[in-house]
Amino acid sequence: MTSLAVLPGDGIGPEVMAEVLKVHTVVGDVFGIDLAVDVLPYDADWYLTRGAAGFDAQEVRRRYRAVLLGALGDPRVPDNRHAKLIIGGLRQDLDLCVNLRPVRLRTLRHCPLRHVGAESEVDLVIVRENTEDVYVGVGGTVRSGQPEQVAMEVGVHTRRAVDRAVRAAFEIARARPRRRLTLVDKSNAMPAAGPLWQQCFRAAAAEYPEVHTDHLYVDAAAMELIRNPARFDTVVTSNLFGDILSDEAAQLAGGLGVAPSASYDPADTGFRGVFESVHGSAPDLAGTGRANPLASIMSYSLMLDRMELPAAHAAVERAIDEVLRGDLLTPDLGGTARTGEVGDEVCRAIARGKEERR
Ligand SMILES: NC(=O)c1ccc[n+]([C@@H]2O[C@H](COP(=O)([O-])OP(=O)(O)OC[C@H]3O[C@@H](n4cnc5c(N)ncnc54)[C@H](O)[C@@H]3O)[C@@H](O)[C@H]2O)c1
Repeated sequence: MTSLAVLPGDGIGPEVMAEVLKVHTVVGDVFGIDLAVDVLPYDADWYLTRGAAGFDAQEVRRRYRAVLLGALGDPRVPDNRHAKLIIGGLRQDLDLCVNLRPVRLRTLRHCPLRHVGAESEVDLVIVRENTEDVYVGVGGTVRSGQPEQVAMEVGVHTRRAVDRAVRAAFEIARARPRRRLTLVDKSNAMPAAGPLWQQCFRAAAAEYPEVHTDHLYVDAAAMELIRNPARFDTVVTSNLFGDILSDEAAQLAGGLGVAPSASYDPADTGFRGVFESVHGSAPDLAGTGRANPLASIMSYSLMLDRMELPAAHAAVERAIDEVLRGDLLTPDLGGTARTGEVGDEVCRAIARGKEERR
């Protein structure tokens, strides 16, 4: 049965996705997992040739159990319209209300902060609301080009979406050893959205007494991530704040080359979600062999977890740990290895792990 839709995308997307597919083949062999793959052509070339027609997120959900996405972004497409159409279509049409962005330091030397003394000090999950805020497209420009020009981007927050993101975050926090959840908002400057987030958070907190809760304004959270990352366990926040904080947090564990994400609807037990690196198509690296494939492989690993394949998920995680402790690393992590060499090393580590556990 065909089960996974793979969209390699633009720039370095196809290069990193090739490594994910190598890993998928090894995982299939080692764990006897039969998840057939369809590679779909939705990228900038497709958009430039065919226009917007032809992409149907609902059809993707009907046909596949999950989507693996490389990255979308191409200077030839004005405003990256194809990326908005495809990524926005998947997130909004399929109501993928949760965006999960885990950040875990696996080797101390990849953390740029001198005052971090142990890997365990950087181990957090950002739960980002994934369908609203300024990404809804409410707003516009009037008196364009004139001194009186007005530009408006409206942050939209609905109780339904906020409540779902918050409750998903409580579930995630409850399953983590520290059981700690921080609400990040800017309620001191946002008198409409702030109270809505706070109300939903308080209401859910009453149902999860085992989760320790606290609150930070987003500016303080940005500072605390650098000053004392160990204070964070699970974070829940709105779409825009989550977008920014997760890129900042990713740097604490080695940067965008090791930052994965999962977008999903916790209530959907059929379609498991869209799994993609946090990074974009990195046109500056495309074709150089210098792209780090680990963020996409980590996103694949999140997919295994969401598909409730714990042994395969654990094996891929162990393999990534092993690779990150070694020296075969791409230039973003201080090494000289090429994209394909890192992917091969992850595959070897998975196969070695299987031999050692026999
Ligand atoms: N979800 C997505 O598909 C997504 C996300 C972000 C940006 N984009 C798009 O990607 C294009 C490029 O955007 P950008 O340059 O702002 O962000 P980017 O994430 O592509 O690159 C930012 C920096 O990180 C480096 N980098 C990114 N991925 C890396 C990897 N795997 N290994 C090593 N280094 C890596 C790049 O070389 C660059 O210096 C734009 O068109 C943007 O709209 C797409």
